[in-house]
Amino acid sequence: MTTPNFVKDFREAAPYIDYLRGKTLVIGIASSMLENPVLHSLASDINLLASLGVKIVLVHGSRRQINALSETAGIVPQYHGGRRITDEATLIRAKQACGMIRFDIEAALAVGIAHSPQRGKRLRIACGNFVSARPFGIIDGIDMGYTGRVRKIDADAIQQRLDAGAVALISPLGASLSGKTFNLSMADIAEAAAIALKAEKLIFVVEPEGIMDEDGLLIPNLSANEARGLLENGRIQPNQRRLVQSALTAVENQVQRVHVLSGLEDGSLMSELFTREGTGTSFSQAPFMSIRQAGSSDIADIISLIRPLEEAGILLKRSREYLENHIREFFVLEHDRQIYGCVALKMFEEEQAAELACLVVSPNAQDGGYGELLLEHVVRETRARRLHKLFALSTHTGDWFIERGFQTASPEELPNERRQEYEESKRRSKIFMMPLE
Ligand SMILES: CC(C)(COP(=O)(O)OP(=O)(O)OC[C@H]1O[C@@H](n2cnc3c(N)ncnc32)[C@H](O)[C@@H]1OP(=O)(O)O)[C@@H](O)C(=O)NCCC(=O)NCCS
Repeated sequence: MTTPNFVKDFREAAPYIDYLRGKTLVIGIASSMLENPVLHSLASDINLLASLGVKIVLVHGSRRQINALSETAGIVPQYHGGRRITDEATLIRAKQACGMIRFDIEAALAVGIAHSPQRGKRLRIACGNFVSARPFGIIDGIDMGYTGRVRKIDADAIQQRLDAGAVALISPLGASLSGKTFNLSMADIAEAAAIALKAEKLIFVVEPEGIMDEDGLLIPNLSANEARGLLENGRIQPNQRRLVQSALTAVENQVQRVHVLSGLEDGSLMSELFTREGTGTSFSQAPFMSIRQAGSSDIADIISLIRPLEEAGILLKRSREYLENHIREFFVLEHDRQIYGCVALKMFEEEQAAELACLVVSPNAQDGGYGELLLEHVVRETRARRLHKLFALSTHTGDWFIERGFQTASPEELPNERRQEYEESKRRSKIFMMPLE
């Protein structure tokens, strides 16, 4: 007997599997995510990705392990501007830490795909002198010692290993032309490798859920402009600034997407790659196209999108005054400074639900995937607010919702306030619901 959820999930994942085959992913794993059971679960997912033909470059961090070694030696780690100051003794501990981590990762990957016939299937791992470094130098009068920057990534050498079917594993150390070893940051290497390899995606697996705003709330989507704005206004938590800077540099240099997600959430990597909802924070450059919250200057454009559909009875009528009072519920899709679509998202926090409404794509831009992008955006927004279901009422577009993971639902499943309105209305719309566990 087939389980309906499995079939639904598999159908949803299939296009993503097809799209990722042969593409390069650079995955930067924070040092705090390199212990079991997290490491084993990540390694199993990495094996699965490799078996689907995804080319993988792994870059690991080492901060926590270097600190543990320093602590044992009774030494307090020294930082400046969030970067470690690496003296000679710390460099030795950095080399020790990277050696240990590398063998731990190799051992975890050797297990194959947990609970499957692929268990124990051998994955080739390639390590090597892929990164050259240069000293960070003296910053604000402080000698950073053996702390370095990435000088160059040997993309050809990595590409050869990837083409031969291996996973490339890179430690945060690099040699300089003067023959010295430098201690580097995982984020700097992952960013530089993703750019040099023209990777499809750069993924940072970290401890927090994603990038958090100043109030500690998850930010689900960030365009390059938004990320830059947040950095400039100091609205990112200080310990995440470097990660955001790396994500921004990557999307500005042709990496299609950067994701920051939590390794503590089992399967987060898989959900990000193979489901519409995704997890964590997603960055995109969006040079011409972006989805953003609407403001009052967008009302005229929204009206010209929705009026014809209101007149055709497809959408409920909304007055200009209504739009003025509820404009913060709207998102607009902008391409080359023109508005091509909109969607509204109304929260019912108490009942842990949100309503998607007023989804419209301009007739001259339909069938190009904009509807899907608007849906993806509101699903992420809903999840980020930890609401458990997203619903939509529709008279004409039911199939479109069903094909994208919604199920038909009854009025009893609506939030109370919305249910009353529904029962008083004569539209007899159908109700579609997407659970977001
Ligand atoms: C529904 C709508 C938002 C989709 O936007 P879009 O950008 O065209 O969507 P996508 O490009 O992501 O998807 C296009 C696919 O959906 C299909 N589709 C479009 N409208 C549909 C409908 N009413 N029912 C079922 N499928 C529909 C298209 O045929 C196309 O299918 P294909 O990929 O097999 O060719 C857009 O058609 C629209 O604005 N419709 C009028 C307003 C409306 O009905 N809004 C819903 C109110 S609740």
